[in-house]
Amino acid sequence: MKKQIAERFLSIYQVPYKSLYFAPGRVNLIGEHTDYNDGFVFPCALEFGTYVAISLRSDQVIRVCAGNFSDEFNQWQISSEVPTDPDCLWSNYLRGVCAVLRQQGHQLQGMDVYIEGNVPRGAGLSSSASLSVAFAKALSDTNNLGLSVSELARIAQSAENDFAGCSCGIMDQLASAGGKEGHALLLDCRDLSFTLVGIPAHLDILIIDSRVERNLVGSEYNDRRADCEKAAQALGVRTLRETTLEALEQKRNELDLLVYRRARHVLTENERTERCAAALKSGDMAVVAETMHNSHVSMRDDFEITVPEIDFIVETVAAQLNNDGGVRMTGGGFGGCVVALVPNAKSNAIEADVKARYLAEFGKEPNVYHCKAKDGARVL
Ligand code: GLA
Repeated sequence: MKKQIAERFLSIYQVPYKSLYFAPGRVNLIGEHTDYNDGFVFPCALEFGTYVAISLRSDQVIRVCAGNFSDEFNQWQISSEVPTDPDCLWSNYLRGVCAVLRQQGHQLQGMDVYIEGNVPRGAGLSSSASLSVAFAKALSDTNNLGLSVSELARIAQSAENDFAGCSCGIMDQLASAGGKEGHALLLDCRDLSFTLVGIPAHLDILIIDSRVERNLVGSEYNDRRADCEKAAQALGVRTLRETTLEALEQKRNELDLLVYRRARHVLTENERTERCAAALKSGDMAVVAETMHNSHVSMRDDFEITVPEIDFIVETVAAQLNNDGGVRMTGGGFGGCVVALVPNAKSNAIEADVKARYLAEFGKEPNVYHCKAKDGARVL
């Protein structure tokens, strides 16, 4: 990839790149729709990601070229306020990062930029977070801003919220910025503190893409978020993190049933996430299996974000696991991927089985990736 990017950069800008940055996509092991409720999530960074090659300019222009979008160009001035570009949606993730840094009072230098990524798009593995985090890392290093992991993540999240029109939480950006090889991050989204939990070497992270396209910017994600806010308001707290299952049960009859079920998912998911991380740490795979299973059931029945294809994959994989691994839907929902922690020795057989059964049921094969947890954003 590095060689390919060097060649592309040279042929586009007629000079070699000065520095190359990378930020990965992520997969979440457990803790879904909890991040914007100040709860717990447990993601890890992947080997797929976005590469950002740069060279400096002497003026105040940032010019970017996107390899994944037929080498489309976009450019803006950093000396004045950075607007969004309605005709070039991918550029808004980058414009947003610049705008946030400017709002924070940072001086930025002009750059020529070439971007290329290999996160499977539309699968829910955070290609967009990896793009904004990689670019934030490039700007931080180039302009000597020394931004920390949580600062990079916050800037990338604001860019996505305010410039790309997606009111996502902080999980994807934090995992992309702070991932660590061989580890998942138990992240407390209330204060952004995280602990690293080693993933035993005998486990593969199997990611099974249903190829049902999801659209996060779509209304369902924002609807779920609004339901959670309604529940918090009815319970008299700022976020669902500030309340308990007992308090929710006491108010059950006063709440709209749908709002009650959304809140029950979030509160039980927080508990499961902490338990699952502790169990993975102590090697208690039966509890990992149980918490991942219950997470899936809760997403399916209470939060209602799964689709038949995803439920089918989860059931098919679960049938092959003897509580020596876990499986659940991962990400925002409505399609996308299933994640499974499976013993290496079983992962090829599980792949073959799920591909054959899914093909028979839905007339297409899922894409299956065998992954390990990798490092977060870095200069290459
Ligand atoms: C998307 C969002 C995240 C998170 C998940 C659901 O990936 O970008 O912030 O809310 O959905 O857990």
